Amino acid sequence: MNTRVLTGITTSGTPHLGNYAGAIRPSIQASTQPGVDAFYFMADYHALIKCDDPQRVARSRLEIAATWIAGGLDTDKVTFYRQSDLPAIPELCWMLTCVTAKGLMNRAHAYKASVDQNVARQAEPDDGINMGLFSYPILMAADILMFNAHKVPVGRDQIQHLEMTRDIASRFNHLYGNGSDFFVLPEAQIDEEVATLPGLDGRKMSKSYDNTIPLFEGGAKALRSAVMRIVTDSREPGEPKDAEGSHLYALYRAFATPSESSQFRKQLEEGMGWGDAKSLLCERIEQEIGPMRDRYADLMAHPERIEEILQAGAEKARRLSEPFMATLREAVGLRSSAGAARTAAEGKKASGKRARLVSFRDDGNLFRFRLLAADGQELFLSEVFSDPKAAGAAIKSLQSAGLDGIASRQGDDMVLAIGGAVIARFDAAKHDAVAEALLTLQD
Ligand code: TRP
Repeated sequence: MNTRVLTGITTSGTPHLGNYAGAIRPSIQASTQPGVDAFYFMADYHALIKCDDPQRVARSRLEIAATWIAGGLDTDKVTFYRQSDLPAIPELCWMLTCVTAKGLMNRAHAYKASVDQNVARQAEPDDGINMGLFSYPILMAADILMFNAHKVPVGRDQIQHLEMTRDIASRFNHLYGNGSDFFVLPEAQIDEEVATLPGLDGRKMSKSYDNTIPLFEGGAKALRSAVMRIVTDSREPGEPKDAEGSHLYALYRAFATPSESSQFRKQLEEGMGWGDAKSLLCERIEQEIGPMRDRYADLMAHPERIEEILQAGAEKARRLSEPFMATLREAVGLRSSAGAARTAAEGKKASGKRARLVSFRDDGNLFRFRLLAADGQELFLSEVFSDPKAAGAAIKSLQSAGLDGIASRQGDDMVLAIGGAVIARFDAAKHDAVAEALLTLQD
C-alpha cells in the first residue's frame, strides 16, 4: 500500500519565503516521490481560531492555494482541498472530542503558553482563550485520521499534536474497534533537510515577529527591498566575513545547490561586501521564484480557476471521507433504522449500486470479510479465519442461503454460525438491514 502523507496550512496570512521553503516546497517535492499518496489542504477552520477578520481568511485561502499550484503541485495526482469543503471533518472532530480527555487538552503547549502569558500579566488564566484554541489538537486529529495518514510533515512545534492524535486514535479504536482498528496511528515527519529560514533580524522567519521576506507580494522589488534590510554585522567590504554565523548565508543555502553555496561562502570569507552578497542572494531566490510569481499572479487574477481545482479536489476527498464517516457513524451507534436502510438499498438498486461482501487480509495476516450495504456502510465485520478457504466457504453460504439457518439471537447480538463455528456477530438492530443486503448482493 502507498504511504499516505498529509499536511495542512492554516489560512490566516499571506505566504512568505519561510512558509515556502519550510512547508510548501518540501510538500510539493514529497508528492512526487514514488509510493506516496499526498493529501494537502487549506486549514481554514483552523484559521478561525486566531483570526476573526473574514476578508483576511478569505484572501489567505486563495493565496495559499495559488502558491501551492504556482509552486508546481500536480493537483491531479495529489488530493488538494479546503478543510471546510468536507463536512465530515467537523463531524469526526465531534466524535473525537467525545473520546478525548479534557486533561489531555490541558497539557497542549499552545494552550499552556497562552495561560502562562495571562498569568504573567496577572490576568485570568483563561483570559481571551476560546474553545477553538483549547480543542485545536482535536480538529487537527480529525484532519489526519479522516484519511488515515501515515506520515504528517510538520514543524517541531507540532510534534505534540501528533502524539495527541495517536492518543485519541487509540482511544477510539479501543472503544469502538472490536479488535479491528478504524484509525492508523500517524507519525510526525520532521525533515532535517528542510530549511527553517531566519527572518530579517535572524530570529525564525515568522509573521508574529514581523521579520518576513515576502514570497510573491509586491513583486521582485519588494523581495529586493526586504533582502536589503537583512541585519548583518558591521564588517566593511574587503574584511573577511563569518559566513557560517550569518543569516544571509543560511538564506542563500536554502535556495542554492551545495556547490553554489560553498562558492558563496568562500566569497564571503574572502571579503565580499554585504551589499554584493545581498544582490547575489536576491538573484538566486529570484531565479527559483520568479517564474512562479507569474503563474501566481495569473491565478490570483482568475480565482475561478483556483475554485475549479479546489472543487475537484474536495470531490475527490469526499469520495473517501463520506463512506468512512458512514462506517464511523455506524460504529458509535448513530445508525440508520432498518427501514431507512431498506429505502436506501432500494434506491441504490435502481442506481445500480448493490451490497457487497468484501474479503481482505488483516494486520495479523488473518482472513476476514465485511458486509457492506449498497450505500457503502459496513454492516458487519466477520470473525478471523486462518485460511482463505474457510473464509470463502463462509462467504459462499451467506451468498446462497442468506441468514436462514445460520443466525441466532444472543442478547443484543445476532450471531452467525456455520457448523458450530461463529463467523460473525453484529447488533441485533441491524438484522433487517443485513438480511436485505444479503438478498441484494452483487455477484
Ligand atoms: N496546525 C498546523 C499548523 O499550524 C496546521 C494543520 C492543521 C495541520 N491541521 C493539520 C498540519 C493536519 C498537519 C496535519 O502548522
